[in-house]
Amino acid sequence: MKNILFLFLFSPLFILAQNPNYSEDIAPIIYNKCLQCHHSGGIAPLSLETYADAISNAGMIQHVTSSGEMPPFLADTLYQEYAYENTLNIDEISTILNWVLNGVPLGDTSLLPPFPSFSNSSNLGLADLEITIPVYSSNATSNSDDYVCFSIPSGLTQDRQVRAIEVIPGNIQIVHHVLVSIDEFGSSSTTITPNCMAPFGDQVYTYAPGSVPLQFPNDSLSQFGIEIPANSNIALGLHYPEGTFGQLDSTKVRFYFYPQNTNIREIKSEYFINEGLPPYPPFFLPPNQITAMSSSYGPIINDMSLMSVFPHMHLLGADMLCYAVTPTNDTINLIRINKWDFEWQGAYLFEKFLKIPAGSIIYASGTYDNTASINNPNPVLVNSGLNTDDEMFVFIFQFLDYQLGDENILLENTSVSTDIFNLPTPIFNKSLINITNLMGQKTNKKYNKPLLYIYDDGSVEKKIIVK
Ligand code: HEC
Repeated sequence: MKNILFLFLFSPLFILAQNPNYSEDIAPIIYNKCLQCHHSGGIAPLSLETYADAISNAGMIQHVTSSGEMPPFLADTLYQEYAYENTLNIDEISTILNWVLNGVPLGDTSLLPPFPSFSNSSNLGLADLEITIPVYSSNATSNSDDYVCFSIPSGLTQDRQVRAIEVIPGNIQIVHHVLVSIDEFGSSSTTITPNCMAPFGDQVYTYAPGSVPLQFPNDSLSQFGIEIPANSNIALGLHYPEGTFGQLDSTKVRFYFYPQNTNIREIKSEYFINEGLPPYPPFFLPPNQITAMSSSYGPIINDMSLMSVFPHMHLLGADMLCYAVTPTNDTINLIRINKWDFEWQGAYLFEKFLKIPAGSIIYASGTYDNTASINNPNPVLVNSGLNTDDEMFVFIFQFLDYQLGDENILLENTSVSTDIFNLPTPIFNKSLINITNLMGQKTNKKYNKPLLYIYDDGSVEKKIIVK
């Protein structure tokens, strides 16, 4: 008993006493969880590529990681697990904290992980259909975002089955998200709809910074995918954040097909929860109050395999919850978002297909905060609707009829996610940021003494300059 107590009492101290360093402990976290957005030329305003970047922003990194703001992943992963989760666990958060408390040591740079590289190309091969929006100049102002939809004829004269979808942002620094839908009521020309949060049609893919292409599972037994009917349009909804006025973009979406007439297990997408839009009655959010919302769908008729959920609210959304209750009263957690952020739209792919038995009911709830705040200084009555300053309460699901074994199929395609990292190290022009003695104490340049020269790419050289 005494021994156990001893261990309990001392384990937190033991963790604190561990001395995390940049090369072994911090760089692996930043390379894997932050750089996909925080590389130079990436979407985030701040580059975190080097040791110098990390130490000059150490306090802020510590703050945004312990508050959960970064990396931005809205779904609560204690509630349900997803493919391509990008979150930090408690150990990683406390490692960052301890590193900052211990004075941001560099460590042995020969132990740095390989520097990841970022490119616009994937391992999917040549696209079978590439749709590009006309060059568009962002209408976002210094304090309002631009949401715009494009509907573009696919030009397909036959139905095609899709095995993968990829979005290539034209201007990575201003494309905050892209929603991709198939509109089977095609037209012969491209249309542009301003102030449009969601493109018309069946939503099949969402891109946000750091997203990987969507590759539907396929093996010798079944090919999953979606179908683009002949003569459909491809509809894209883009979000350009405030402050991007006048910047140009020409984003593309690429589709990769199965061979003609492949018999696929077709993934459908539907708004299971969609309050406030016709045919349902509108809802209203009075000013200066918090309003709760709830809704349900079902009972569902056949056993269903769920692939993804896309939760959606606008600017006043505060939190969201969605789960299924089976006929035997089991609860299946689907998604919980504790702090909604409309800037980070995305679909969450479950780790594996989730089986929802026939007879289940899907329940959803959420709250809207229409009280005064920095973002909403003068609250007014807000009603449901499609415009940015209206509100929505939506959960879109991708699903198909269940077949035995679906619940064992992993939805994360490892060949896609790992391909983004572990590529050759780019060469930087490094610059000197610090000189220390062999004890790690800062010093000026001295002759005839061994000193450590620390560079902003994280490398360290031991040198003696002889005079
Ligand atoms: C999916 C893209 C993405 C990922 C991944 C990401 N960030 Fe960010 N980060 C952003 C963007 C974009 C901003 C700019 C502010 C905003 O739009 O929210 C930002 C802002 C920041 C800021 C500045 C906050 C401020 O108030 O100015 C810090 C610090 C930061 N991120 C650290 C991190 C760290 C550390 C990680 C990894 C643990 C990380 N980010 C992962 C996109 C990302």
